[in-house]
Amino acid sequence: VEAPAVAEARLFAPEDEAHCRRTIEEWWRMPLEDLVSRADRVCRTVYGDGVYLRGLLEFSNYCRMDCLYCGIRRSNRNVHRYRLDEEVILQVVRTAFARGFRTFVLQSGEDPAWPAGRLARLVERIKEQTRGEAAVTLSCGLMTREEYRLLREAGADRYLMRFETADPDLHLRLRGVALERRIEGLVYLRELGYEVGSGFMVGLPGETDETMVENLLLCRRLDLDMVGIGPFIPHPETPLADAPQIPLDRTIRAVAILRLLLPGANLPGTTAAGSLEPDGRERMLASGGNVLMPNITPVQHKKDYLLYPGKICLDEDGFHCVGCLTMRVATVGKRIDWEKGTSRQYLW
Ligand code: 5AD
Ligand code: FES
Repeated sequence: VEAPAVAEARLFAPEDEAHCRRTIEEWWRMPLEDLVSRADRVCRTVYGDGVYLRGLLEFSNYCRMDCLYCGIRRSNRNVHRYRLDEEVILQVVRTAFARGFRTFVLQSGEDPAWPAGRLARLVERIKEQTRGEAAVTLSCGLMTREEYRLLREAGADRYLMRFETADPDLHLRLRGVALERRIEGLVYLRELGYEVGSGFMVGLPGETDETMVENLLLCRRLDLDMVGIGPFIPHPETPLADAPQIPLDRTIRAVAILRLLLPGANLPGTTAAGSLEPDGRERMLASGGNVLMPNITPVQHKKDYLLYPGKICLDEDGFHCVGCLTMRVATVGKRIDWEKGTSRQYLW
């Protein structure tokens, strides 16, 4: 798929970083409406009016990390901790597969009770159960290269791990770990042949416009297949409780630029955007986004996976959401696409 609009967007070689940075800076200053309509054109050229669905399963909220922004950080003693066992996970996947889902995203905190070996056996069983017709995406944080290799060999197709912010000082302050470690992890995933997803939060306290340019540039430098971004929403039970809420427009601008930077990438309309504004996900889909991730976690656990307050769909099961999303995508002239939805960026 190399239509003129795509060719135009791919005009700079990745190694020409100075040019790339200048272009991003220009886009960052463009009127939002113009930027959005351009991104929407490129998105429709590459993905048509299709929106891929991913079944998101939050299988454990235990986490050894203590990120300042996150509601399920280790220090938050108010969180009711849960972890689903293999049989429950396989049952959820079986039901969702029967309903048409062809991608499952297994997400958790960095949970020591789910070491790579155990995860690998689970991935094998999911691939078996779905006769290899479903893609398995993992989103379980930073591991060693060996662990990522084990999981890849077990059949994992994709891995999601946001770098959160490309500002090394801010990253260290918020996460207590060097940005370089995460980037290294993403490079390993790439070497092992995963479809690689990353991304960042928009509106973190201490972030500037230059940070945003660096965030976008890093996505391009990593040649990401998928990029998930969303507005930072302060959680009352974290040290960032009193940080200001930045308006959604900044996230909309960022997703539009990502579509121009990485025309073939899968870009979700994220739950955080939908939690900040009722039509936040639709706005992202009208600005370059082409993916939705309905939450298929068993309803009784959804309320315990609160990374930020005001999270939507806590009382709905994932299948109710599919009906709701079918209507919502129609409002921006799109439709649900039930295919596995491999990233064009990965295929090209
Ligand atoms: N607001 C918005 N997004 C958050 N995340 C974590 N905490 C918050 C918050 N307070 C995002 C991070 C993480 C993803 C799963 O959720 O980017 O990678
Ligand atoms: Fe979940 Fe609308 S998407 S209820």
